[in-house]
Amino acid sequence: MTRKTVRIAMNGVTGRMGYRQHLVRSILSLREQGGLDLGDGTTLWPEPILVGRREHALRAIAERHDIEHWTTDLDAVLADPSVDIYFDAQVTSAREEAVKQAIAAGKHIYCEKPTGTTLAGALELARLADAAGVKHGVVQDKLFLPGLLKLRRLVEGGFFGRILSVRGEFGYWVFEGDWQSAQRPSWNYRAEDGGGIVADMFPHWDYVLHELFGRVRSVQALAATHVPQRWDEQDKPYDATADDAAYGIFELEGGAIAQINSSWTVRVNRDELVEFQVDGTHGSAVAGLRKCRVQHRSATPKPVWNPDLPATEPFRDQWQEVPDNAEFDNGFKAQWELFLRHVALDEPWRWDLLAGARGVQLAELGLKSSEQGRRFEVPELSL
Ligand SMILES: NC(=O)c1ccc[n+]([C@@H]2O[C@H](COP(=O)([O-])OP(=O)(O)OC[C@H]3O[C@@H](n4cnc5c(N)ncnc54)[C@H](O)[C@@H]3O)[C@@H](O)[C@H]2O)c1
Repeated sequence: MTRKTVRIAMNGVTGRMGYRQHLVRSILSLREQGGLDLGDGTTLWPEPILVGRREHALRAIAERHDIEHWTTDLDAVLADPSVDIYFDAQVTSAREEAVKQAIAAGKHIYCEKPTGTTLAGALELARLADAAGVKHGVVQDKLFLPGLLKLRRLVEGGFFGRILSVRGEFGYWVFEGDWQSAQRPSWNYRAEDGGGIVADMFPHWDYVLHELFGRVRSVQALAATHVPQRWDEQDKPYDATADDAAYGIFELEGGAIAQINSSWTVRVNRDELVEFQVDGTHGSAVAGLRKCRVQHRSATPKPVWNPDLPATEPFRDQWQEVPDNAEFDNGFKAQWELFLRHVALDEPWRWDLLAGARGVQLAELGLKSSEQGRRFEVPELSL
């Protein structure tokens, strides 16, 4: 077995996503398993170079995980020809500039969503990366979650018949920060810093709907800021200028209609933090992050509306669990492996910066729909 090193500059690893999901659960986990077996007698060995603004925070992570390379000098790391990939999990507002710089330096690009703060900016990144001939990708982790993989299995197996509708419920209560500390960074609640639940979640809904049920053809949304004041990391009050809940309706190619509520101001009365109910002529399913339950048409009860009587059947017990039938790895790691294979072996890859721009487009049109009280067609994007 020969070992080939791939050097990855990882920017934003002091943040929630960059640290836990991308560094620890993906890249370090790949190293713990001995690297990525490419199946051709080669093992790909990822070597992270931690990049960030705060020296002490980077040093602490490097020491904790025995990582040799870290720097606060992005220019220098991009000028280093031995660095193959630039990865970005910074705050959204910092992404475009850094990714542009990395493309100009000829690095392959992998980054978090949303890929930009505007459609124009996100498209420009896709165009620049394509023109530079570098490989590029955007994180679309939800596709690799066990619950959604089971849902995809059902769609591909024809379980649903004709799919009629998808109803998604995402959210949980994010504390305001005064009485109990907030469990999300404060920039999420400031529009001027790239925050807002539409910008955060619509990119996810775009690729989930597109990949499982059909391209989003139109969007109609109402965004709200239900909690107007919050407290930041320094316990200082600030005005929440970004939306913290969004109620969206999406028409899909193929005729299905999706309706998704996204909220940081809702208390969970569900089995999981996100759940999608899919109803089709032949069957229905409810999928979460991990689990998926189904009800076939042959096992569908026939309730009769009568408010004078208590519910006659235990409706939630009438669903059947879809078995795993496979081992599911961490979704972020699974996608990293595919990206690394794409870089090393030129294997097919479709979650590129154009797909990232589609997510930004849906968010932008969703906000415009909310502002203007209108439904918008979603034009197909091309480079
Ligand atoms: N794929 C997912 O499920 C998912 C989930 C949450 C967040 N995200 C995305 O990941 C990115 C990071 O989100 P997070 O929740 O980890 O944020 P975070 O605030 O925890 O981390 C942000 C990182 O960016 C760095 N940074 C660079 N410039 C900054 C600036 N001017 N101000 C503040 N921080 C700056 C910070 O040091 C830190 O490393 C966002 O783009 C977000 O949309 C993706």
